[in-house]
Amino acid sequence: MTGDITEVPADAVVNAANSRLAGGGGVDGAIHRAGGPSIMAELDRVRPPGGCPAGQAVATGAGALPAKWVIHAVGPIWRGGGRQEAEALASAYRSSLRLAAERGAKIVTFPSISTGVYGYPVEKAAAVALSAVAGFLAAGAGSIEEAVFVLFDPGTYSAYAAALDALAERGAQR
Ligand code: APR
Repeated sequence: MTGDITEVPADAVVNAANSRLAGGGGVDGAIHRAGGPSIMAELDRVRPPGGCPAGQAVATGAGALPAKWVIHAVGPIWRGGGRQEAEALASAYRSSLRLAAERGAKIVTFPSISTGVYGYPVEKAAAVALSAVAGFLAAGAGSIEEAVFVLFDPGTYSAYAAALDALAERGAQR
C-alpha cells in the first residue's frame, strides 16, 4: 500500500534506522516525530555498545504510534552492489520479522528499507525485500499473520508491486 507508515495501525512498525540508532530524516524522523520522545529514550537504554550493524534490528515500544512496538532495522548503504548489500538487506527484513514474532506480533508494517538516503536501487531492493519476507513467512512465521509494505510514493509502490507479481509468477511456476 502507499501511505505514511506512522499512520497505519500495526502490532510492529519497522523503522529504517542507522547503525547508531540515533534517529535521522526520512521514515526514521517521521517515526520519532509521531511516536514521541519515549522511543529515543528507550533506544538510549537498549542501544548495543557498538551500535546496531547493518542487517540487524533492535525493538522498542511504539510511544504514541498506533502500534505496540517499533523494530529499528538497519539496512545497508548502497555501495554499488559488490559489498553483500543484498544479503544485509534481506537480513534486515528477516531480523525484523524474528523480533516481531518473538513478541507475538500479528501484523508487521515495513517501509522500503535503504532505498532513500541509503541509495539502494528500489527495483533491486523490492525484489530482495519481498523474497526475504515471503521466505520467512513460508518457513513458518510464528505469530505473524500479515506483512504490509507501506510505500511513500507511487514510484516505490510500483517497484514493489512489480516485484510481488514476479514473486507470485515464480511461485506459480514451481
Ligand atoms: N512512511 C513510509 N515511508 C517513508 C516515510 C513515511 N512516513 N518517510 C519516508 N519514507 C520512505 C522513503 O521515501 C524511502 O522510500 O522510506 C524509504 C526509506 O528511505 P529513508 O527513510 O531515507 O531510509 P534509508 O534509505 O534506509 O536511510 C536510512 O536515513 O533517515 C535516515 O536515520 C536514517 O541514517 C538513516 C538513513
